Amino acid sequence: MQARYERRLGAHALEVVVADITTLAVDAIVNAANETLLGGGGVDGAIHRAAGPGLLAECRKIGGCPTGEARLTAGHRLPARHVIHTVGPIWRGGDRDEEALLAAAYRNSLVLARAHDCASIAFPSISTGVYGYPGRAAAEVAVTAVAAELSQFRALRVVFCCFSEPAADWHREALEALVEGT
Ligand code: APR
Repeated sequence: MQARYERRLGAHALEVVVADITTLAVDAIVNAANETLLGGGGVDGAIHRAAGPGLLAECRKIGGCPTGEARLTAGHRLPARHVIHTVGPIWRGGDRDEEALLAAAYRNSLVLARAHDCASIAFPSISTGVYGYPGRAAAEVAVTAVAAELSQFRALRVVFCCFSEPAADWHREALEALVEGT
């Protein structure tokens, strides 16, 4: 996977790529799930297809996940060691705590990654598909939320795994703004 863009922040590496997240051989890929954790379309469907039926069987035992929280499973047939399932907010116009819930989804995914000694993690653009969150705003929330958690890691590689060129541009611009601002 050729990183489309990479910035280093201290010992950490923040990358932006356009790729299918199920192909990434990282310690954890993040799934944009729904509260049932029983699969769906979009990246959720792609991850379950690639992971095989064992992933759904493991998810059934978890019993769901509230919006903004995250749950960890094995990667099953995926190249990734773990899947961190998180549930982003459904966009309802922006005055229903969507920004805080989206930030929490990224933050809680990283809390689980830290607890399981992950040194690399890939995020899809959570909530920006079926859940309708505007892509540029979501990228800014994502980059800000991830940057705020880096200090809890010794050296973390974060891959913002986008599925379109515009989404990659939004993440790259958000990262540039972050780095200029630090
Ligand atoms: N790899 C990386 N990104 C992907 C992939 C993939 N294989 N497939 C889709 N995406 C991107 C979409 O283009 C979008 O930018 O993931 C982002 C999130 O979109 P969705 O998968 O629709 O997730 P979300 O908007 O968070 O909605 C979650 O959709 O699939 C259902 O079960 C899921 O109910 C839940 C809802």
